Amino acid sequence: MDRPEHAFPWRRFVAKPLLFGAALIPFGLLVHGAAVGDLGANPLERVTHTTGDWGLRFLLLTLAMTPLRQLTAWSGWLTFRRMLGLFAFFYVSLHFLTWIWLDQELRWANMLADIAKRPFVTVGFVAWLLLLPLALTSTRAMMRRLGRHWKRLHRTVYAVAVLGVLHFLWLVKADLLEPLIYAAVLFVLLLVRWRPGLLKRPPLSTRALDAR
Ligand code: HEM
Repeated sequence: MDRPEHAFPWRRFVAKPLLFGAALIPFGLLVHGAAVGDLGANPLERVTHTTGDWGLRFLLLTLAMTPLRQLTAWSGWLTFRRMLGLFAFFYVSLHFLTWIWLDQELRWANMLADIAKRPFVTVGFVAWLLLLPLALTSTRAMMRRLGRHWKRLHRTVYAVAVLGVLHFLWLVKADLLEPLIYAAVLFVLLLVRWRPGLLKRPPLSTRALDAR
């Protein structure tokens, strides 16, 4: 299902730039809101929630690329994986920075106390720490340098997503619906990860036999 050699590289020159632009929209809206003073009654909450939500969405989207390839037999999905992962890191880092700078106002002792005291903050912090080496080793050069260890390291992204969902479940006080939706999506993605046979189509010959 890969494109022939002579075809226009639309994935590189069209799909990826479009995805890049689309992924920046939530950030652009936040910057615009801040510039015109329209971030609602609680700007800190708006920025924290928007960046946290998009960090988690991009993490789950990153994990969805391999199942989509299996489901559609189109390997092109994998070309978007790195960009989606880096956008997850981008939004989660903005989220973390918002907490460091606007919420905690750079009071380092307070931050350490908060990380130690509130379990949802601890979990979020560990998730970000685990995401950091993945972002730093996302280049082709690092992929080559780390060889087979690269794949093993990058499997940590599943743990990051689990911690991200746990962080969300832990922090909500009343309405669990939204974090539960993320938890359900993650559950399906993990199930497919550990039972890839669920999505694999039988080879053509077997299917032909079945049809007889
Ligand atoms: C992979 C890492 C992380 C992910 C995926 C993540 C995701 C989220 C999500 C989805 C929310 C809820 C947004 C909403 O209510 O709509 C949230 C809230 C929050 N997160 Fe994170 N987060 C991460 C890391 C962190 C870190 C490192 C910190 C700080 C050390 C942090 C601090 C917070 C705070 C303070 C809130 C708001 C809690 C409240 O409204 O009471 N998060 N995060």
